[in-house]
Amino acid sequence: MSATNFPPLKNDLILRASRGEKVERVPIWIMRQAGRYLPEFQEVRKHHGFFEICRTPELACQLTLQPIDRYGSLLDASIIFSDILVIPQALGMEVQMVEGRGPVFPEPLVHPKDVARLREHVNVDQELGYVYKAITLTRHKLDGRVPLFGFTGAPWTLMAYMIEGGGSKTLSKAKTWLWKFPEETHELLQRITGVTVEFLVGQVRAGAQMLQIFDSWAGELSPHDFRTYSLPYIKQIATEVKERLARENLEVVPMTIFAKGAWYALADLTNIGYEVVSLDWTIDPEYARHATKDQVVLQGNMDPSVLFAGHDAIRETATRMVQAFGRDGKHIANLGHGILPTVDPEALRTYLETVQRVSAEIRED
Ligand code: CP3
Repeated sequence: MSATNFPPLKNDLILRASRGEKVERVPIWIMRQAGRYLPEFQEVRKHHGFFEICRTPELACQLTLQPIDRYGSLLDASIIFSDILVIPQALGMEVQMVEGRGPVFPEPLVHPKDVARLREHVNVDQELGYVYKAITLTRHKLDGRVPLFGFTGAPWTLMAYMIEGGGSKTLSKAKTWLWKFPEETHELLQRITGVTVEFLVGQVRAGAQMLQIFDSWAGELSPHDFRTYSLPYIKQIATEVKERLARENLEVVPMTIFAKGAWYALADLTNIGYEVVSLDWTIDPEYARHATKDQVVLQGNMDPSVLFAGHDAIRETATRMVQAFGRDGKHIANLGHGILPTVDPEALRTYLETVQRVSAEIRED
C-alpha cells in the first residue's frame, strides 16, 4: 500500500488547534484510547500476543480503529497502536509483555559495558518497518475521519526501562547511572535520540500527521537532572525531526511533548520546537498558561481516575477543566495520563460528550 494518495481529511480540528488557530470547539483524544478497557480489544488480545499485534500491520490497524469506530465523531484524533518499547527492541533488547506485570526485559543493562550488547548501527526502517506499514494502512482505512498520531518514548524514559528492566517504584538503578556514569549516560541517551529521530521521520513519511513524545518518567527526576539528562535530547529530537522533514519535502507536522510530572519544567518546554505541551492532572491550567507565557497549545488534563466516579462527577470535572483552560482556544482535551484498563467505556463517552458540548457552548457565548 502506498504512502501517498491518502483519502482527504474530513476533520482537521486538532491540526488547526495545534498550530494555535482559533477553532470552533476543543478537540479531544485520549492517551491509550486503544486499550484494555475496550471489550473489542480484549477479544483480539485473547488470540494474539501484545508485540505480535504491534508487528502485524493489519492487527495494529484494526486496534487503532476500534475507538474511532466506537465513539465516531466524539474523537478528533487516532494514535497508531504500538508501544514506546519498540525502540529498545530495535536496539537489540528483548522485551516481553507479561500478564499482570507489564513489560519485562529479561536482560536489562546492568553496567555501561552492557551497552556493547546493543546493535551498533540500527537500520531503523528495517527494524521498525512494521510500524510504518501499520501507519500507512491505517491512514487509508481511516478514510480521512481524523488525523493519525505517530509517537515514541523520550530518551530518558526509554533508558530507564532498559536499565530497570521494567516498571519500578524508585528508578534507583537508572538514576544511579546518571550520577555514577554521566559520560556513558549521555552516550546512551544520544544513541537512543539518533534512532528516535530516524523513527519519527519514518512515521511521517509513512503517513503520521502529528507526533507525540512520551517522557512518562520525567517527574522522577529533579529539575537539575531533567535539564541535564532529558531536556537537551527532547529538544534535539524536535529540532532534527523538523529539519529532516523540511529537507525531505515532507509535511512539517505538529509535535507534542508529554513530560509527565515535570510541572517544574513547563517554561523550559516552551519554544523548543513543540507546538503542544501535554499536562498531567497535578498541573493547574492557569499556572501552565502563565509558565508557558501562552506560547504553546496545552493538552490535557483530567485525572484518569475520575472516570471511575460516575457520570455526574465526570461531567462536573470535565466542565471545570474546559472552563479553566479558557475560551481562547489553545487547548486540546485529553486525560492527564493514559486511560486505565478497568474503566467503563460508557464513562469515557460521557467525558468526550461533555468536553465537546461545553467547549462549543463557551465559544458561542
Ligand atoms: O492507544 C494508544 O494510546 C496507542 C498505543 C499505546 C500503547 N502504549 C499500547 C499499550 C501507546 C501510545 C503506549 C505508550 C506507552 N507504552 C507508554 C507511554 C505512555 C504512558 O502510559 O506513560 C509507556 C510507559 C509504555 C510502556 C508500557 N506498555 C507499559 C508500562 C505497559 C503495561 C502497563 C499498561 O498500562 O498496560 C504497556 C503495555 C501496553 N501498551 C498495553 C497497551 C494497549 C496493554 C498491554 C496488554 O494488552 O497486555
